[in-house]
Amino acid sequence: MLLFVSPSNPTGAVYSPEQTKAIGEWAEEHGLWVITDEIYQNLTYDGVRAVSIVEAVPALADRTILVNGVAKTYAMTGWRLGWMVGPLDAIKAAANLQSHLTSNVSNVSQRAAIAALTGPQDDAIAMREAFDRRRRLIVAELNKIPGMVTPTPQGAFYVYPNVTGLLGRTWGGVTPTTSLELADLILDQAEVAAVPGEAFGPSGYLRFSYALGDDQLLEGIRRLQRLFA
Ligand SMILES: Cc1ncc(COP(=O)(O)O)c(C=O)c1O
Repeated sequence: MLLFVSPSNPTGAVYSPEQTKAIGEWAEEHGLWVITDEIYQNLTYDGVRAVSIVEAVPALADRTILVNGVAKTYAMTGWRLGWMVGPLDAIKAAANLQSHLTSNVSNVSQRAAIAALTGPQDDAIAMREAFDRRRRLIVAELNKIPGMVTPTPQGAFYVYPNVTGLLGRTWGGVTPTTSLELADLILDQAEVAAVPGEAFGPSGYLRFSYALGDDQLLEGIRRLQRLFA
C-alpha cells in the first residue's frame, strides 16, 4: 500500500500535478492500494493547488481510500471527526472494525461537521489568509538565524528547517548533537515546543507549527532568535 500525504506533515511540501500523476501511475502499474490523506487539501499558498491522486489517475479509484476531516480546514481538532471515501467493501469493513474499537462519532460532532462543510466558507478562507501571513513571517524570521535553513512550504501549517548548522555548538551551556537534543534545549531554555526530525525519520530537522496567534508566534520566534544569537 502507498500512503500519499500532500500537503505534507511535517514539511508542508505539496506535490505538483505532474509528480502526483507520476506517483499515481507507478502505484497503478504495481497494483498497489493507495491511502491518500488530504487533510491539508485546503491549506495551500502561493496559488498552488494540491491535486488529489485519484483526480490525477482516475484508474486508481477502485483501490484508493481517501481520508480527510474537519481538524485542519475548520480548526475543529477537538471534535474528533473525519471520513473515508473508497470502495464499498473496504469502507464497510473499516466501519465494522471502528464501531467495535471506538464505537462511533458523536452526533454533536457530526452536526457540527455538516455545518462546517455546507455553511459559508468565509472563516476558512480568512484562516488560510492568516496562516499564509504567519508562514511568510516565520520563514523570513527563522532564516535570520545563522545555522537554521528554512525552506518556504506551500501547504499545511508547519515549517521544517534544517538545523544541522546549530548542532555540535554550545548554547546556554548545552551542546546538542542531534535535533532531538536541540528540541529539548529549546523547550528548556526558550519554552518553545518543536518536534524533532527523529519523530518522522532523519535527525537534523525541527518542525515548528505556525497555527497560533500572531503575537504568540512572534514571541516564540524572538525567543529562538535570542537563544541562537
Ligand atoms: C497528515 C495528517 N493527517 C491527519 C491528521 C489527523 O487529524 P485529526 O486526527 O485531528 O483528524 C493530522 C493531524 O496532525 C495530520 O497531520
